[in-house]
Amino acid sequence: MGNAPQIKKTVTLTDNETGKTYEFPIVDGSEGPRVIDIRKLYAETGMFTYDPGFTSTASCESGLTYIDGDQGILLHRGYSIKDLAEKSDFLEVCHLLLNGELPNPAQKKEFNHLVTMHTMVHEQMQFFFRGFRRDSHPMAVMVGCVGALSAFYHDSLNIDDPKQREIAAFRLIAKVPTIAAMVYKYSIGQPFMYPRNDLSYAENFLYMTFGVPSEPYKINPILARAMDRIFILHADHEQNASTSTVRLAGSSRANPFACIASGIASLWGPAHGGANEAVLAMLNQIGDKSRIPEFIARSKDKNDSFRLMGFGHRVYKNYDPRAQIMRDTCYEVLKELNIKDPLLELAMELEKIALSDPYFIEKKLYPNVDFYSGIILKAMGFPTNMFTVLFAVARTVGWISQWNEMIQESSQKIGRPRQLYTGPVNREFIPMDKRK
Ligand code: SDX
Repeated sequence: MGNAPQIKKTVTLTDNETGKTYEFPIVDGSEGPRVIDIRKLYAETGMFTYDPGFTSTASCESGLTYIDGDQGILLHRGYSIKDLAEKSDFLEVCHLLLNGELPNPAQKKEFNHLVTMHTMVHEQMQFFFRGFRRDSHPMAVMVGCVGALSAFYHDSLNIDDPKQREIAAFRLIAKVPTIAAMVYKYSIGQPFMYPRNDLSYAENFLYMTFGVPSEPYKINPILARAMDRIFILHADHEQNASTSTVRLAGSSRANPFACIASGIASLWGPAHGGANEAVLAMLNQIGDKSRIPEFIARSKDKNDSFRLMGFGHRVYKNYDPRAQIMRDTCYEVLKELNIKDPLLELAMELEKIALSDPYFIEKKLYPNVDFYSGIILKAMGFPTNMFTVLFAVARTVGWISQWNEMIQESSQKIGRPRQLYTGPVNREFIPMDKRK
């Protein structure tokens, strides 16, 4: 038995034109699809792989978040999103993503204190807002102001020093909500509210957003809990578009604050984090249950660019586990606020009809995290154009944790993909008098 042939964990590639064969190792992760290690492919074959949109490409090795799209599973450092959303809080999840473990009581106290001590922004930050029109899209202001943070810490930032990387993470986790609240205040012409150190992370964000200097602000514990849970649900999500943007920007060893600003820019797109805002616009466009069939038909029509926003996902071919938790939270918040939002009824009917439609079943299009979040955020008093800002507040910890993981890698190198070139070749220069 001992001499049973060892099956080599490799794949063999045969170029049928040349008859040459090549062998590449297969690597196992701790969970999920195995990978073919093709790092030597170009050197050995002179060929590239071709995978626009990276549908079959693992861009990195990571231990932060695991997603099983078929089972609808989402784990952060091995803990299920359901457990974290129900039993943990956002700063605990931040500690988990950054440090790999849930904090013990002493670690939690220290972590929370450090975040609290970094919530104020430099007093000069307020002057950046003046250049923006009051009606600028809040995501445009976020990109500008978070990017501007890089001007305040660049000289004290050695990204090879773990302590300096850690303080950059604390600064970002702590200051992005402050900036987000300032973005909202600027848009409505109200004064900025300074953070309060006696409030929790979610309470402080609600206070800075909805409080005014002229009267005390009463925290609603149900809304604060819902806000904290919404932050947890959006904290990290493997190598999505904005996280891949942060990793690629960071691979050149750029300033981490500037890298996070690049993640905010990518998240803004309606195909990504901008979908929560787009869902509300879509529900308002549909307007009434009677028009749902018309819009479902449009979403299947290849000649119509309309898609059901909040449906479909590159990875989830099952119900997005975050969407289920978001739907339950939606009920909780609307009940607490005693709000009967017709948009929720419309969303539920749309979900019911879409999930029984053969097109959606065949293409495995289910509601994603963005489908219900907008309805809750609208009920909490946020304007639609702030929804993706809230997504960015939560995802900042994911982006900086993924950036931190990448910078620590001994094999870390600048990301520089190649291409399949299909443009013109070797043309002779045409002098101006010869051009038609
Ligand atoms: C987020 O990556 C992440 O993890 C992202 C995220 C995170 O936490 O970071 O989860 C957050 O971005 C959630 C997704 C939010 N976006 C939307 O809700 C926008 C609507 N959804 C689609 O744009 C789309 O589903 C994507 C962009 C989310 C995924 O697109 P893919 O993986 O490139 O899939 P695809 O566009 O190739 O679609 C496959 C098929 C296509 O039909 P065929 O070409 O095969 O005939 O499904 C169809 C699509 O036309 N399809 C839809 C649809 N989404 C896909 N048809 C109607 N409505 C939709 N919403």
